[in-house]
Amino acid sequence: MQRFFILFFIFLIKNSQQSVQCLDNSGKPVDWYIFYKLPHLWDHPESVPISNGTGFLYMDPNQKTWKLMENGMDAQQNNAVYSTLEQYYGNSDNSSYFSYMYNDEWPDSTIWSNNSGHAKGVVMFDKSSGFWLIHSIPKFPSVVEFRYPSNAHWYGQMGLCLSLGFNSLADVAQQLFFYNTFTYQFNLPDYFANSVPLLTRLQKGDYQQSPPYTNSKIFKTLGGQSFRHFAKTGSWGKDLYSDYVMGELRTSIKVETWDHESGTETNLPSVCSQNAHMSTLNAAYIRLPFNINYKTYEDHSKFVVAFSDQNRLPAVPYVCIGDINRQSHQLHRGGGTMCIYEQDIYQQYANIISETVPCNNN
Ligand SMILES: *[C@@H]1O[C@H](CO)[C@@H](O)[C@H](O)[C@H]1NC(C)=O
Ligand SMILES: *[C@@H]1O[C@H](CO)[C@@H](O)[C@H](O)[C@H]1NC(C)=O
Ligand SMILES: *[C@@H]1O[C@H](CO)[C@@H](O)[C@H](O)[C@H]1NC(C)=O
Repeated sequence: MQRFFILFFIFLIKNSQQSVQCLDNSGKPVDWYIFYKLPHLWDHPESVPISNGTGFLYMDPNQKTWKLMENGMDAQQNNAVYSTLEQYYGNSDNSSYFSYMYNDEWPDSTIWSNNSGHAKGVVMFDKSSGFWLIHSIPKFPSVVEFRYPSNAHWYGQMGLCLSLGFNSLADVAQQLFFYNTFTYQFNLPDYFANSVPLLTRLQKGDYQQSPPYTNSKIFKTLGGQSFRHFAKTGSWGKDLYSDYVMGELRTSIKVETWDHESGTETNLPSVCSQNAHMSTLNAAYIRLPFNINYKTYEDHSKFVVAFSDQNRLPAVPYVCIGDINRQSHQLHRGGGTMCIYEQDIYQQYANIISETVPCNNN
């Protein structure tokens, strides 16, 4: 009898086409994961991946603490992003799958955009489920095969993968419709076009051009974890964080984004409020476990950590991962951020922005 069941399960595993979703470092289905690709750090000669600019930290629901991975993000094993994207390679024009890649800097090319959505991501669904991978890596991923681009070794990068049911695809489309994404891959089989009409408009490059200019949506993963996503259009002309996310989350926030100024691209200042207890402070320094520390100048990742500026009150445990920088031109770019309210994840983020840029007495 026991033998029969074992054979029966082997039969099931072999014959059930596993549905598309986020896959973890060992290639197993996982509800969500977060990765933090570390900057190229000379002071870590003991770790080849870190000193080579590919090392990364990782967490998922099975272990909600930062784990320093032995391999780099260029590896084809112990790499959740590799495992997840392998579902796409070989299936890029298969009519069983919807796939969509956007990045303001296209892979394997010198094409980039200075006015469409400042956002990078991959969406892939079959007829029952899928994933949305939100990340900060320029020129990634390639449509041809998995490779971690050399241009993204130097700086820190972050990403978040959500496993979603098919009924979330319309909401993903809705949020990305606000972005005006710079799209380089779009496979839209009839089944998906018929189920989610907005996908056809996205494919044509259409986007939200009249009010409202911002939108938020709750996402529930396959495993039932809630996330809240915020999107804005470029024409809105305001800051995603201090003008939108902070007020919606009703908390002060620290924001890590790209802070290299050039030409007319200037950093938006930290914004302080004395009585409403809602401030938006730019990150200045990152302090991670494993003795990994660096200035925000080394980091291209984009994330938000809520904090309490009232002594007696605990922080609202929000962390957000997303697309937009706190810089002048980014007021006029589309993009968004995906937030999670969860104590364990929050604890992993609470102190990593260890120094912030003070306000100019405003
Ligand atoms: C380090 O990264 C470079 C690309 O920047 C790559 O060519 C090289 O093989 C890597 N070295 C190691 C030891 O991983
Ligand atoms: C498309 O994907 C399905 C499901 O994985 C598979 O059965 C089929 O062989 C694929 N078709 C092609 C043309 O690759
Ligand atoms: C984008 O670049 C073009 C050409 O360099 C320039 O004319 C245009 O003003 C830029 N747009 C934005 C939004 O910066």
